[in-house]
Amino acid sequence: MRRLFVAGNWKMNTTLSSAKSLAAEVAVEVQKTQPRVDVAVCPPAPYLLAVKEALGDSKVSLGAQNAYFASPGAYTGELAIEMLQDVGCQWVILGHSERRQHFGETDDLINKKIVAAASRELGVIFCVGESLADRQANKTEQVLETQLAGGFAGVDVGLLGQIVIAYEPVWAIGTGVTASPDQAQAAHLFIRGWLAKRYNPPAAEEMRILYGGSVKADNAAELMGLADVDGALVGGASLKGELFLPIIRAAATLAETK
Ligand code: 13P
Repeated sequence: MRRLFVAGNWKMNTTLSSAKSLAAEVAVEVQKTQPRVDVAVCPPAPYLLAVKEALGDSKVSLGAQNAYFASPGAYTGELAIEMLQDVGCQWVILGHSERRQHFGETDDLINKKIVAAASRELGVIFCVGESLADRQANKTEQVLETQLAGGFAGVDVGLLGQIVIAYEPVWAIGTGVTASPDQAQAAHLFIRGWLAKRYNPPAAEEMRILYGGSVKADNAAELMGLADVDGALVGGASLKGELFLPIIRAAATLAETK
């Protein structure tokens, strides 16, 4: 049975003060709903330590939004995996479409980051997803296949336990348009099928695949209730307690029946 996982990607948002209070709100909620679902928040890097403190001894885990693959050294501006772990991160988001689009991250670079993080036991939330043009050209599966093959190159089956996939159709991110349940389920099933072929069916069955792209309180239960959707990676709606907490609650309710 796969445990539902709700992660908030705060992107380049919040202030020190709002980050701390949002983290504290999430922590209080998770004390109530835990241990039925896993919850993580991924604040901007300068706030990681303060957010970790605000999370206290709650079960909410901390994630970063980026990492570099090399060991600490002369890489101005970058974040070493060891540093993220040092401040309490259990997760790092890699391969996000915003990093692919605005920072030129390639499948090859993302792969190096995935291998480095997973092999050092930092959990990876590996994002894949097609653009609107890809979908309209019926290339969704081809694009997913390329991103998956690139991301998992050289990733041994033994590392899969460190990795969660997030299917985030680029056209659904920050647009208010979500994938329909049929579109989401089909993409998740395709990803799981790819994992079964690349690794083996039991490993594919165990892998969590989150959906991301305009997840809100009013669509979260339907999306997370789909057979191959194991939680949500939430952007905009993770920035306010009144929007994010209902998504956590929806996952906790689903966890009783799914
Ligand atoms: P939105 O929930 O704002 O669409 O963002 C999704 C996302 O990119 C999460 O990583």
